[in-house]
Amino acid sequence: MENTDRLNLTPEQAARLTVVDHPLVQHKLSILRDEQTGTKQFRDIVRELAMFEGYEATRDFALEPVEVTTPLETCVCQHLAGKKVAIVPILRAGLGMVDGILDLIPAARVGHVGMERDPETHVPREYYCKLPGDAESRTCLIVDPMLATGGSATAAIEYLRRAGVSNIRLLVLVAAPEGVRAVLDFDPDVRLYTCAVDRELNDHAYILPGLGDAGDRIFGTL
Ligand code: PRP
Ligand code: URA
Repeated sequence: MENTDRLNLTPEQAARLTVVDHPLVQHKLSILRDEQTGTKQFRDIVRELAMFEGYEATRDFALEPVEVTTPLETCVCQHLAGKKVAIVPILRAGLGMVDGILDLIPAARVGHVGMERDPETHVPREYYCKLPGDAESRTCLIVDPMLATGGSATAAIEYLRRAGVSNIRLLVLVAAPEGVRAVLDFDPDVRLYTCAVDRELNDHAYILPGLGDAGDRIFGTL
């Protein structure tokens, strides 16, 4: 497991952070970071990594017994105890992660939170939000490939809290230490999943070494 001591988190905050360091995840993340990786492959890998993270973020979902008759006999198996999920991408880069999670949880609902960072101030502007009507009774998985200053993620968490959502998990692919601390400080209950915690932010609040602008690379708008 990646050593996150350098983040100076409290033990309680560290328990809410999961770094998904599976070898396949780290392999695919290296391809994502490579500036030579083209739009199609970038998009495909964002989707795959979202699915891997989805496994981790749903690891504690409750099971209940169910009787199944195999071709040989009847046995007691386990199935999910009716957990309801909403996937909430932060537009626009978060859209790239939605299908990977839907591959795992096809019945999940999808809400949208539109945030765009001001290029000068780096403060996010909210431009569109729409949640499922019963969002407050669902486990909400906020998805966004990049957690930089944490401004967009904390604004999205605040929006979901105001909508009455109690169970929130944030899934990102690459995080800066600043963003990890901002999110875990901002909300005492949110759980954070990332494939990597990078070194730092640059003067434009881009993650170093990072992977560049995730939205532009997913949608080919470089
Ligand atoms: C990017 C990224 C996050 C945000 C992270 O989105 O996808 O939403 O920046 O930065 P922060 O942690 O400092 O808020 P951007 O605003 O560039 O919009 P886009 O997804 O439309 O490209
Ligand atoms: N948004 C991105 O897409 N990349 C970064 O490094 C920071 C914010």
